[in-house]
Amino acid sequence: MTTTKAAPESPGSPPGPLDAAELRRRCAATIDSYGPGHFEGRPWLRQAFLDTPREHFVPDRYWSTARREGRFPVLDRAERPHAWLKRIYRPLAPLITQIALGEIRPEDGPTDCGDFTSSISCPAAVVGMLHHLDPRPGDRILEIGTGSGYNAALLVHRVGATALVTVDIDAALADGAASKLAQLGMTPTVVTGDGELGYEQAAPFDGILSTAAVREIPQAWLRQVRPGGVIVTPVDTPFNCDGLCRLVCDGEGGATGRMVGGLDFMKVRGQRARRPYSELGWPLWSDYHVTAGPGGQRIRTP
Ligand SMILES: C[S@@+](CC[C@H](N)C(=O)[O-])C[C@H]1O[C@@H](n2cnc3c(N)ncnc32)[C@H](O)[C@@H]1O
Repeated sequence: MTTTKAAPESPGSPPGPLDAAELRRRCAATIDSYGPGHFEGRPWLRQAFLDTPREHFVPDRYWSTARREGRFPVLDRAERPHAWLKRIYRPLAPLITQIALGEIRPEDGPTDCGDFTSSISCPAAVVGMLHHLDPRPGDRILEIGTGSGYNAALLVHRVGATALVTVDIDAALADGAASKLAQLGMTPTVVTGDGELGYEQAAPFDGILSTAAVREIPQAWLRQVRPGGVIVTPVDTPFNCDGLCRLVCDGEGGATGRMVGGLDFMKVRGQRARRPYSELGWPLWSDYHVTAGPGGQRIRTP
């Protein structure tokens, strides 16, 4: 087996493209070790991941979620190019790109403010969500939460630019992503707008992927997916993390499905306020029935 050693970190010397490609391969290998629900059974996804330079979509400064002395540190490409690049390819590391809707800037240094309003999700989460969406070439997909444009690039790799619409509520993010995508020759429809409204003009879609969490599935999404099409979205749960929900739509405003994993996402802008879980269709705690015995325990809802 051949391995490439990353060059020692030195300010001002940007990492070469080979470093990034090697880090990408290693990241993919680690994600493989997480087992089902990632690249397994999805060769197209592995290829899209390996062909897409994630670092192209990452701003020169971002915050890490690995707190130091209670604060989120900033990784600055000019100061620490290799640390900046290595974290981009850590399978479980999200990169925070906007805090408090831009009121706090990475130029200001580390912060203790955890009001994250845009990020580039960690590679394992991105891969997991696309695994469950599993679009076919040419499928018409609506992505909610364009952010950096990285996830959109992976989708374009699979479905083609003309089949993808991606929406972000933040105009600067949408514009920035459109230009990053264009630099790679990708020209999906990038829209500034409220993704909770879907994108009626291009409906019906074969699938909707939301990269921001909801507490309640927006009605517009249910109306804008064709019968048999899927919605994949993080949904707020009472368990201190979001559940990744995969729904199949009936084309008449309804959908059914199940939770396929657990992850953590920022909420869509209009659903940041907490709501009682009983209003959102969740079972009560007393609905979880527990049995325990020599054979182990079982926890079920009726
Ligand atoms: C986790 S980030 C998305 C990451 C992105 N997919 C990427 O590859 O970089 C969530 C994004 O959702 C956006 N967002 C929040 N509420 C939204 C809404 N109602 N409609 C559209 N975008 C929204 C935020 O501005 C933020 O950029």
